[in-house]
Amino acid sequence: VLPEICKSIEPYFMLSDDKLKTIVKYFCEEMNDGLAAYGHDVAMVPSYVPGVPDGSEQGTFLALDLGGTNLRVCEIKLFGENKFEIKQQKYKVSDALKQGEARVLFDYIADSVDAFLTDIGSDLTTDDNEPLHLGFTFSFPVEQTAIDRGSLLTWTKGFNAKNAQGKDVVLLLQDALDRKHIHVRCSALVNDTVGTLLSRSYQHGPALIGAIFGTGTNGAYIDRTSTVKKLGDDKIAALEAGGEHAGEYMVINTEWGAFDNKRRCLPASIYDNKLDRESINPRKQAFEKMVSGMYLGEITRNILLHLIDSRLLFDGNSSKVLNTHYGFDTAFVSRVEGAKDDAEVRTAIQSMLGVESQYIQAGDIELVRWAVGIVAHRAAYLAATAIAAIVLHTEPNRREQDKKAIDVGVDGSVAEFLPNFESRVREALKIVLGEQEKIITIGLAKDGSGIGAALTALTAKKALERKA
Ligand code: BG6
Ligand code: GLC
Repeated sequence: VLPEICKSIEPYFMLSDDKLKTIVKYFCEEMNDGLAAYGHDVAMVPSYVPGVPDGSEQGTFLALDLGGTNLRVCEIKLFGENKFEIKQQKYKVSDALKQGEARVLFDYIADSVDAFLTDIGSDLTTDDNEPLHLGFTFSFPVEQTAIDRGSLLTWTKGFNAKNAQGKDVVLLLQDALDRKHIHVRCSALVNDTVGTLLSRSYQHGPALIGAIFGTGTNGAYIDRTSTVKKLGDDKIAALEAGGEHAGEYMVINTEWGAFDNKRRCLPASIYDNKLDRESINPRKQAFEKMVSGMYLGEITRNILLHLIDSRLLFDGNSSKVLNTHYGFDTAFVSRVEGAKDDAEVRTAIQSMLGVESQYIQAGDIELVRWAVGIVAHRAAYLAATAIAAIVLHTEPNRREQDKKAIDVGVDGSVAEFLPNFESRVREALKIVLGEQEKIITIGLAKDGSGIGAALTALTAKKALERKA
């Protein structure tokens, strides 16, 4: 039996049907605010990507991916017929790089491109002195003004490099490449959610939503250009007329990680408030801090410490790992959620939390399972509120093909490795959407952003050729 204290903690994690529906209502409101004017938390960034590919696209491109677990440099070959081939190399980004000078970070990124071209080699060759085209997946909030232009609004997910906010990230990258005489041109800038949406569509047919549940969380979807009121009537008319990079529809990057920064409805427990207060971006990314992989371990740690300090767990004993800020990550949550028996949980507590065996009693295993369970449950239910809000928001405006079936492409370590995540998301979608849940399909679009970046670079290249 669980101690009394659990009853007071649970309401912050096991959300009632009414609570879920309230959150979705606020979500729809904040999305509308972000479409109507600049400067809102849920930024609803126009991507200037006009709809999704049909799988017939062809070409070879370089892609760069910054903002997930690793920095990746890839070469992607699109063969058409929904087929592709990817060659890639991962590079670690240290905390020192994440939080140092932006120039040093971008130099490191340029060096990684250079190392990729030298070590792995590229099949890309260009005539004359044409540079290689590169699509840049940059997974942070950027106010985009064109397919290859956009300034950083704010860092998220443990990045805080100086002298980057407000700057055009394509220029930061291009400068670094040019300084090092690397003959590559960054021709497209894309968020990882937009990349995931494009990649899912390339492989599987037209999707409506691309979502990341990884280190951070965010989603992109397709909306009518005329809904993006903040662009102003003239720009909307120009885009709709088939202007440079859009048409009747456009992909919108919601930046839903910042939902409810004003804290009107999210169920913030003392563990969430502590996490936020101690983070490098307090009062920001409120939703992300309850849903994404960077934080699920830390919320769990806070709960376990409270139970230890209340002398209800491990006989009041802690460990070095448990006493360390971000001492363990979501891999522990995944391991416990996926454990087939108590012995496996016990092993995880010993090896991943560093708690000595003598302190672990049978009741402790139940308590750890409970803590992990409520954190994972809430993450999935909240994830569903974001998807449901987009489904409801787009209802009056959907393309013909999205009326009978709605496809959602997902990527990221939480979606991929956290057991029961998708089934819980579906459970919550059913509560909020009722019958409409049945028309939704959800599928993994692994390594989506590489392909997405390549597809966007292709769109940009075609536009350049048309101009020439
Ligand atoms: C990768 C994508 O597969 O998933 C990245 O290529 C994305 O662009 C990442 O950012 C998200 O997952 P995680 O768990 O690495 O943050
Ligand atoms: C953070 C970033 C967002 C990104 C998401 C997933 O929320 O702000 O741009 O898409 O993480 O990587």
